[in-house]
Amino acid sequence: MKKSDWWKHAVVYQIYPKSFQDSNGDGIGDLKGIISRLDYLKRLGVNVLWLCPVYQSPMDDGGYDISDYYHIHPMFGDDADMDELIRKADGMGIKILMDLVVNHTSDEHEWFQQALKDPDSKYADYYIFKETADGNPPNNWRSYFGEPAWTRVEGTNRFYLHEFSRKQPDLNWENEALREEIYRMVNYWLDKGLAGFRIDAIGNIKKRLEYETFQPDGEDGLRYIGDWVLNQPGIEVFLQELNERTFRPHNSMTVAEANVPEELLNLFIGEEGFFSMVFDFSYTDIDVPATGEWFRPRDFTVEELRKAIFSSQRMVQEKGWGALYLENHDQNRSVNKYIPEEEIGYHSKTMLASLFFFLRGTPFIYQGQEIGMENIRMASIDDYDDIATRGQYARAMNAGLDKETAFDIVAKRSRDNSRTPMQWDSGKNAGFSSADRTWIRVNPNYKSINAADQEHPDSVLSFYRELIRLRKDSKYSDIIISGEFLPYESEDPCVIAYQRSTAHERLLVIHNFQNRQSAIRLPKGHLKTVTGNFPDNHTQKDTPQRLYRLLPYECIALYMNE
Ligand code: NOJ
Repeated sequence: MKKSDWWKHAVVYQIYPKSFQDSNGDGIGDLKGIISRLDYLKRLGVNVLWLCPVYQSPMDDGGYDISDYYHIHPMFGDDADMDELIRKADGMGIKILMDLVVNHTSDEHEWFQQALKDPDSKYADYYIFKETADGNPPNNWRSYFGEPAWTRVEGTNRFYLHEFSRKQPDLNWENEALREEIYRMVNYWLDKGLAGFRIDAIGNIKKRLEYETFQPDGEDGLRYIGDWVLNQPGIEVFLQELNERTFRPHNSMTVAEANVPEELLNLFIGEEGFFSMVFDFSYTDIDVPATGEWFRPRDFTVEELRKAIFSSQRMVQEKGWGALYLENHDQNRSVNKYIPEEEIGYHSKTMLASLFFFLRGTPFIYQGQEIGMENIRMASIDDYDDIATRGQYARAMNAGLDKETAFDIVAKRSRDNSRTPMQWDSGKNAGFSSADRTWIRVNPNYKSINAADQEHPDSVLSFYRELIRLRKDSKYSDIIISGEFLPYESEDPCVIAYQRSTAHERLLVIHNFQNRQSAIRLPKGHLKTVTGNFPDNHTQKDTPQRLYRLLPYECIALYMNE
């Protein structure tokens, strides 16, 4: 493995700063709060943190609407706190990634304000404006959050493009001066000692602008914008330049939020690729249609999930390196997505952990996942802060769903499910904040699900610690990091088994993804148990029949040296 591939050894922990730890009692998480929890993270074993945006922002979309790229939002602390976090974490062997949001800015960013004020200023070309003769929008694209993708500049026939909310105008990457501003800003952070970035919506920066009324695909008369803005030809020129001017000279770790089709993967993550790795959406978005309409959920089977994971692994390993994840701030909690409600518990949670952790790639744990946090159910739509949740609800109603059904479906998929405060202990506000009111509700289940109560060997938290240790610092580290991924045959479609192999070693990982017993045939040879969530069941692996009876939601990892 090349030295520049340091990120292949990383285990990343994603922090949603607003909800991780509040240090000043205002009900909102902050940077000093994160610093105060570095010991916990060190003990967990992770060595990279990814922080969702902490820049100045009106917070229309949880900080993904940046009004100043160079400064920290006062609710999170100040610029010196960020420096301190980078330095302290570094002293503990932990590197920091920030979120890089350069497909759009906030409408309150100075550039956009200048562009509004003076259509002839150089800043007007930093964004995408279009004037129409008849005062109608230039076309009928629907933004990701459900509204029309063009918003009129008040008092004019001039519209600006926004793929996300109207407070997130899209940047015009065709403009060279704008690109230079971006590179300068990226280098400013990297020069400070930041290890890299998770890069937001980067597959969207090249647009194919077409002005006509497209065939609507919804009751709102609009058409989903994706086909015109995702992975458009020519995007490679921008990405190449971005990489050469910023990431490559810094040997940065970069994780692109870009759902890249197979034919482009090599460009993105190959040997000379633009990024260290990309997030693949195929198994985390298995429950939603390609247009991202949560209110039309898709049913899926364990077999489909297995296929999605396996095909992603095969594809990515052929081209380069991947990011592994089950949760993030845009997803609901993984246990609620993949496991029927009445079957959620220690065994199903640890089975899911093992399923993604032994795959080939860099694992990302989302805050609270390591203690098995679950979805929240709020009382009404008004309790939800997330702009996407409100947009999906409005569209569901528009599509004719009744209020209860719309709420039910949307609440289950809401991004706020993963944005509730971290559950540290069973005290006030789960130990997150001393405030009387937190910015978003604490999940009432914190009395039974919290980190402090899991300081014993049979907890979800201990299981995660063990998985991290095995990957980072054990005699199995090499095979877990570098071993080739290979599917392992199982007759039962609800058993997901795979192998990781090197010339002389094999790691076999088996998951019984159901609430029933099953069985699987084991290979011949001496098998050593690496870990599992039903230790008492392990002795049967050595029976002469080589048939291993799996308990409901059992997982087991076995090692062979040939
Ligand atoms: C993806 C981010 O993860 C999400 O939270 C955000 O709403 C959009 N990009 C827009 O920035």
